Amino acid sequence: MDLSTTFTGIRFHNPFLLSSAPPTESESNILRAFEAGWGGVVTKTIGLHPVVNVVGPKTKFLRADADSAHLSMKKRPGAALHSSWNWELISDKALDWWVPRLGRIKQAFPDHVLVASIMAGSGNDTELRHWQELAVACQEQRCDALEINLSCPHMDRPDMGSNVGKDKELVSIVTKVVKEVAKIPVWAKLTPSTTDIVIEARGAFLGGADAISSSNTFTSLPLIDVDTLDFEVQVDGLVSTGGLGGPAILPLSLAKMSQLTQAFPDKSFSGIGGISSFEHALNYFLLGCGTVQICTAAMLDHAIGPNVIRALNVGLTRFLEKQAEKGWTRVDDFVGLRRDRVVAQSKIRRPTEKDYRGGYDAEGYAATEEVGVKR
Ligand SMILES: Cc1cc2nc3c(=O)[nH]c(=O)nc-3n(C[C@H](O)[C@H](O)[C@H](O)COP(=O)(O)O)c2cc1C
Repeated sequence: MDLSTTFTGIRFHNPFLLSSAPPTESESNILRAFEAGWGGVVTKTIGLHPVVNVVGPKTKFLRADADSAHLSMKKRPGAALHSSWNWELISDKALDWWVPRLGRIKQAFPDHVLVASIMAGSGNDTELRHWQELAVACQEQRCDALEINLSCPHMDRPDMGSNVGKDKELVSIVTKVVKEVAKIPVWAKLTPSTTDIVIEARGAFLGGADAISSSNTFTSLPLIDVDTLDFEVQVDGLVSTGGLGGPAILPLSLAKMSQLTQAFPDKSFSGIGGISSFEHALNYFLLGCGTVQICTAAMLDHAIGPNVIRALNVGLTRFLEKQAEKGWTRVDDFVGLRRDRVVAQSKIRRPTEKDYRGGYDAEGYAATEEVGVKR
């Protein structure tokens, strides 16, 4: 069975990538990931300067009991994974550490897809040139694409991470600056922490982005322990907001992705958020994604997800076998098939035709002109 696909002009053995995160933080992990069968990896985000992370754990996993409402990060038998929570910054290794490693990885696996995730500031021309420096250095090592991180939810600087991703102009400027020097495709990884992600996506496409990756983690807090009254993750009693990933964000990320693929049906999308099985990935494909990326599930499976990628490949193979009667032979045959099934509430059938008008007319609400809403 041929699982290969072409996305933003790059050929992948399969449409499954490890996303930018701990599974892709080192050369040895990435080499193991390719050996295990991942179609591509996006490196842990690379910056120009080393960063220093918090004291203690940077990631924890929230679990739910099957027979009670109890949610906790404490490990216990029978509890199911609810989500990952992290406040890890970008790679604590700077560009010059990464450069020779990227080259060696490409040399060892020339036909596997290596995407370099990069991040710099965006507050002035010097910062913008940092993006270009990162982009050029990574493409010189024969990386296949660049993913610009406009989405890390825990950067304090207003001109970094998701603070850029919330600003359509900065999104556009950063994308354009990277595109000016890029000879390889540029994917923009957007934040879900925004009212209408279509606005920022438009900024990215105006800047020349070849694809959008979504979602990064959702801004969130760990829960407070009822016995200690401390947050389950804290340093000296203090916590900051961090990012939620894993199963809890799958439906949330799908809603963002649906908005994106409907607004830009002819563009390329890489779906991320809550995927641990082929069934999950299929949702993203059917909404219009050409590839998908995985983090939390891989972190919990020998750090790089050998069982996860095996299951994804088996799942896709079985799906294609089952759908052979429809003439489907590859992922492209079903990408976007359910994109148009997501509609406005008022388009969903009511018991009788006139029962509901989406809040307009005859339902007791003020007329839209009175409340200043344009229709
Ligand atoms: C510990 C941790 C570190 C992460 N670091 C990065 C990063 O450096 N750059 C980035 O773009 N995304 C980063 N992410 C986000 C993931 O790549 C991914 O977008 C997110 O976890 C949602 O996918 P998941 O539900 O499969 O975990 C990180 C996530 C986690 C849990």
